[in-house]
Amino acid sequence: MEKIVIKGGVTLNGEVQVSGAKNSALPLLFATLLADGVSEICNVPDLRDINTAVKLLRELGAEVELQEGCYQINTRKIQSVEAPYDLVKTMRASVLVLGPLLARFGHARVSLPGGCAIGARPINLHLKGLEALGAHIHLDHGYVEATTDGLRGAKISFDLPTVGGTENLLMAASLAEGETVLENAAREPEIVQLAEALNSMGAKIEGAGTAVINIQGVARLEPLECQVIPDRIEAGTFMIAAAITGGNVLIRGAVREDQEALISKLIETGAEIRPEADGLRVIGPKKVASVDIRTSVFPGFPTDMQAQFMALMTVAEGTSRISETVFENRFMHVCELQRMGADIQIDGHSAIIRGANQMTGAPVMATDLRASASLILAGLASENTTEVSRIYHLDRGYEKIEEKLAALGAQIWREQE
Ligand code: UD1
Repeated sequence: MEKIVIKGGVTLNGEVQVSGAKNSALPLLFATLLADGVSEICNVPDLRDINTAVKLLRELGAEVELQEGCYQINTRKIQSVEAPYDLVKTMRASVLVLGPLLARFGHARVSLPGGCAIGARPINLHLKGLEALGAHIHLDHGYVEATTDGLRGAKISFDLPTVGGTENLLMAASLAEGETVLENAAREPEIVQLAEALNSMGAKIEGAGTAVINIQGVARLEPLECQVIPDRIEAGTFMIAAAITGGNVLIRGAVREDQEALISKLIETGAEIRPEADGLRVIGPKKVASVDIRTSVFPGFPTDMQAQFMALMTVAEGTSRISETVFENRFMHVCELQRMGADIQIDGHSAIIRGANQMTGAPVMATDLRASASLILAGLASENTTEVSRIYHLDRGYEKIEEKLAALGAQIWREQE
């Protein structure tokens, strides 16, 4: 097993390029199942979750090749419609094959994902939506068995805006007969990219990026050709890296419109954010001010940035309250940050952070993807050495983060445990 070692206390300076967005690449890879032919997706990041998605596509019978950073996916010979437990348990986003398989083949068998480190994470809203489109769904030995003799458009009002649920329904409804209206849909930039990609395949989708999406079903879709958008969560993580070290970093590929909530909070901490031609420059404050945040769906403060922002608050002056409203159990990083000297108390769905501590390096353990980024950020701001173990979580969603941070001057490297 590998670990990341960080010698903290270095101010970061320079430029860093953001990779393609994991959370956009995954639905795009699965959307290729909707067409019969060869799709090409470029700017796909090199991550463990992407490898899992490719494994799943191959398991279904797709031929997948990687050439010069672009994936070619041939979906002409799909022989299986089953997403097995082994793959779904490693990556929950595997449930996104449900909509495409059902719409194109009338049948899908997908393992139920079960819980994960950050909470229960059910898929009941995906299933309810697909049932409204005319799918017959029953649960069998831990698998969702979905069949249909033809999906038909319907009006679906989500109980809460779900990113994956909206994506599954967008894909399924694109090949359904007639009109589908999704109400209370998720509005994340990844939803907009998926809708644009589906439209380029011949789908008729309007309203993506708003709470109401209208889909006119079509009989068939053409293969996909597209370029994955930059990863706003990776970009946000580098923005905080600049802020927490009092540095000056140009984050190439960071898109202002996708980061408004984070930008306004970083400005409150005293950081300066300057939009430049191809990204955002972040100049860290001399002293970080404490601010409160409350996670919510886009365009609110992203839950995927909560752990990283908490690392920043551990070195801020004053007290901040961070409330998590999207996931029920997303404070696993708190105990590890405490081991590095942070003063944090949990109060229900909130964490109260008394900042201005000098964080001290310690051996810590990554508990989930974004928690691991939080520990690395805390390590950058700590005295002495921090060793982050269980970094397979990190490798699910950050491409070469230690190399990118090292290029900004950080003393950080990967070692065998
Ligand atoms: C996606 C992101 C993840 C991010 C999350 C919220 C991907 C691959 N992952 O996850 O990084 O943290 O959005 O921004 O894009 N829920 C239900 N029933 C459902 C579906 C969801 O109750 O059927 C609940 C969840 O438990 C959670 C909330 O809705 O509390 C939001 O989840 P959702 O938006 O679906 O997250 P994911 O798509 O799984």
